[in-house]
Amino acid sequence: MKKLYFGSNLKMYKGIKETKSYLQRLIDNTKDLNREEMEIFIIPSYTALSDAVKCIDEKLIRLGAQNMCWEDEGQFTGEISPRMLEELGINLVMIGHSERRHVFGEYDAEENRKVRAALNHGFKALLCVGETEEEKNYGIAEEVLRTQLKVGFYNVDAEKGKNLWVAYEPVWSIGVNGVPATSGYAENMHKIIKETLRDLFGLAGEEIPVLYGGSVNPQNAESLIVQPSIDGLFVGRCAWDADKFNALIRSAEKAYREKM
Ligand code: PGA
Repeated sequence: MKKLYFGSNLKMYKGIKETKSYLQRLIDNTKDLNREEMEIFIIPSYTALSDAVKCIDEKLIRLGAQNMCWEDEGQFTGEISPRMLEELGINLVMIGHSERRHVFGEYDAEENRKVRAALNHGFKALLCVGETEEEKNYGIAEEVLRTQLKVGFYNVDAEKGKNLWVAYEPVWSIGVNGVPATSGYAENMHKIIKETLRDLFGLAGEEIPVLYGGSVNPQNAESLIVQPSIDGLFVGRCAWDADKFNALIRSAEKAYREKM
């Protein structure tokens, strides 16, 4: 049976105190779940990372950063470097979240520099990809995903592929105005992603987990996780209450086990 991934990006919502109590509650809630079969990760705000590291058991919850500069140091006002994350004990970084691309204007070649910097530091790099509504309507979603992956992972050795994760998050599905992708649509796009990863990395590409994100909720989590090409769920709003996230993880895991 494949390992399942459940994670949440806390965006710009929880401060230090809230992050700590959220993590403590999530650990209490989920500590009995077998971590050989499942990975749970949380991506808090930068300002909460240092305290968050102190209050988790990394065997239970992996912490990640929401973004990162590609340089170790330099004249990059307002940026956070891989070395700074290393110093905190962080070993996962999310790259190219839709809000970074569409609100802050990041582009594929930039994501590639960040991916390579993350891998050079031994981090796991979680690259987010996804088409906009306009791209979907033009019928070019598949090409967009292939481009984002090929540029995002340009010049990455297959041997480093073991530290890559991908999240498929169609832009039109994210956030309060988002419409969740149907499980069938998501599965088709995950297949394209997996094919592209195989083209890029050969057999090593098959080991890269591909998570679905974008309005995951208690109603659709089960039908998404049972899809053969979906390895995990990357959840926003419906994960920000630790009890609700715990319930979602358990029901999705149960649905997956029953289907196997
Ligand atoms: P959402 O966020 O679940 O609130 O749509 C998903 C994301 O931005 O990763």
